[in-house]
Amino acid sequence: MPAEPRRIITIDGPAGAGKTSVSRRAAGALSVAYLDTGAMFRALAVRLGRGGHELPEPAIDAALAAMAFSLDGSGSDTRLLVDGEPLPESARTEDVGSMASKLAVLPVVRARLKLAQQALGRTTDLLAEGRDMGTAVFPDAPCKFFLDASAEVRAARRVGQLAALGRPADYEAILTAIRSRDDQDRNRAEAPLRPAPDARIIDTSDMTEDAVVAAIVAAARGASRHA
Ligand code: C5P
Repeated sequence: MPAEPRRIITIDGPAGAGKTSVSRRAAGALSVAYLDTGAMFRALAVRLGRGGHELPEPAIDAALAAMAFSLDGSGSDTRLLVDGEPLPESARTEDVGSMASKLAVLPVVRARLKLAQQALGRTTDLLAEGRDMGTAVFPDAPCKFFLDASAEVRAARRVGQLAALGRPADYEAILTAIRSRDDQDRNRAEAPLRPAPDARIIDTSDMTEDAVVAAIVAAARGASRHA
């Protein structure tokens, strides 16, 4: 008998829309594992180093083929491991995000990571967060969200997060970096950032994180009751 399909919830949206903390908390409340797919692109960026997107395609393909992705833990404590190791905090910077975004344009990268993401989705119920979860990777997921917020709100949030870590940040520089990453993510040929036709769009600009988590958890519970 074929295995029961796993329950998949998708959350997509631009950089700084609050996806990561919201997704982690919602995964905990819904008792599903959490997959941060941006971390997979960031891990590749770290592995290849600056200018990695300019390497010959076979070199990028070989690096990807050698990376083993797995999930450890469950709910809000789920960790993505690459070759058994979590992503270092140093990979969370806007600089590594921009390197990841340049790699994310390449079809070889998208194809390999999509297969890895779908393979993880066969191992466990999952809340998958990224840019193309609802459109390209899990198009049949019964419950999809797209989180958005203005670039100004997203930049201000990033500055606040960095300040909380004791790292002063320049609002204008972060706004420019966010706008350029948006441009790159929205305008690439393959799997551009956009809501799936059946995604619920949540503008988080004027919402607290608690309110966004509550909206997602309520809608996901409702969807599974009606599935
Ligand atoms: O979400 P995060 O900021 O960690 O993602 C880093 C970059 O990885 C994004 O700007 C995007 O270019 C790429 N990405 C993607 N598809 C995903 C997740 C991330 O293209 N599903």
